[in-house]
Amino acid sequence: MFREGFVWGAGSSSYQIEGAHAQDGRGPSIWDTLCRRPGAVHNGETGDIACDHYNRSAEDVDVMSRIGLSAYRFSIAWPRVLPLGIGKVNEAGLAFYDRLVDELLRAGITPWVTLYHWDLPQALFDRGGWLSPEIPAWFAEYTRVVVDRLSDRVQHWITINEPQIFVGLGYREGKHAPGLKLSLREQLAAAHNVLLAHGRGAQVIRERARKPALIGWAPVGRVDYPVIESRDQIEAARASTFGITEAGFWNNTWFGDPVCLGRYPEDGLKLYGTDVPRIAKGDMETIHQKLDFYGVNIYSGAPVRMNASGKTENVAWSPGVASTTMRWPVAPKALYWGPRFLHERYGLPIVITENGMANADWVSSDGCVHDPQRIDYTRSYLLELARASADGVPVDGYFHWAIMDNFEWAEGYKERFGLVHVDFATQKRTMKDSAYWYAEVIRTNGDHLSDASPFVAAASAAAGNATVRPGVIEAKPGARVPVAVPGARA
Ligand code: FCB
Repeated sequence: MFREGFVWGAGSSSYQIEGAHAQDGRGPSIWDTLCRRPGAVHNGETGDIACDHYNRSAEDVDVMSRIGLSAYRFSIAWPRVLPLGIGKVNEAGLAFYDRLVDELLRAGITPWVTLYHWDLPQALFDRGGWLSPEIPAWFAEYTRVVVDRLSDRVQHWITINEPQIFVGLGYREGKHAPGLKLSLREQLAAAHNVLLAHGRGAQVIRERARKPALIGWAPVGRVDYPVIESRDQIEAARASTFGITEAGFWNNTWFGDPVCLGRYPEDGLKLYGTDVPRIAKGDMETIHQKLDFYGVNIYSGAPVRMNASGKTENVAWSPGVASTTMRWPVAPKALYWGPRFLHERYGLPIVITENGMANADWVSSDGCVHDPQRIDYTRSYLLELARASADGVPVDGYFHWAIMDNFEWAEGYKERFGLVHVDFATQKRTMKDSAYWYAEVIRTNGDHLSDASPFVAAASAAAGNATVRPGVIEAKPGARVPVAVPGARA
């Protein structure tokens, strides 16, 4: 179903899980600042403590190894390593990642490091942030510090997470840090600097890494998929997946084409017109660095159809369509068509760097966290990913978002994405049913996906009717409890 050596992972990001915001010399980030702005984050919550992962990484790595992860994707907090963004290195901050990498390697888990997952040092924002022409150089300096320290052990690097979202929500809609609503011209200038930073970061990794580096990035994937899988309908869906039709960033190509093809897409250039930033000589070469994989974050997708007059239109969701607590429709086909279209356009192996769902999870009276929706969601998405793989798309890995419940940006703690439940009052971790189920998927390299009623085993394991060793679930003889299997989703 999945090739041998397929990477089974889960992910997180620094601001969302670390906490310890003022510990050991960490500098403030733009998220610390935004969280203190009244009304910016649900309930006025902050990442000050989050999952306290900074102080509990050993326990967390232990849970990862119980699940049997082959890889763990985490991000480095730039202001923990360089409190002012450039200049003086904070040794204690760097030492934390050193330890984490060692803990992971000891547990047989490959670290995948993301350099930028949205927590820009406040000091750099004060000097212009992503609008400053100096930021590619700042990012290169930061990358050099991290690579010099970790690249004797870390080989997998992701430069930047979801540029579309942090530029779109941070500089356009004002919902994410730094909470600005700027003109399109300024948004595009920031986006250009993000792309240059990506390129400079990739160059630094390639030049300085002590072990051969595998470099990628993790944009969001916007997937329009065909409801009818005929040749012309597929072409229509492809065109709409790669089209830019609105003056915002909810698209693939404004970022993907420069990074992978070395040019901005024609339709975007036309639409954005005179707002497009000046492209200096050499910029496109800097942005267009050789990558080893195309990481992509896919949570949902949109069904489309070409109508009789040849226009592609969105197909409306039926009322009450399956959706997560974020109200993101459940659209497993996105994990077939997304990887396929992206591979066909950019020619790179695909890694799903994020996929998962927010659910109304809580610890039940039996002490377990039963989340059949997450099992069903993940199973149906992974089956589509397996189909892509069977159809010849080189899919190298899958990272479930997230390893544990965490600070979900403007939504605070109300959205739970984890395989592991976190009680934020006590910091107690509880593996959800989905974690037990995922352990079995990993152990069988995906074969367990063909079990159409996986809920019984997972619930049973969570209830203690199974012994769980790293990556292995064995039912105790006679321990199978009859648990009702939830009906399949319509
Ligand atoms: C993505 C982010 C990640 C998390 C998930 C739910 O947009 O990269 O940090 O918030 O969504």
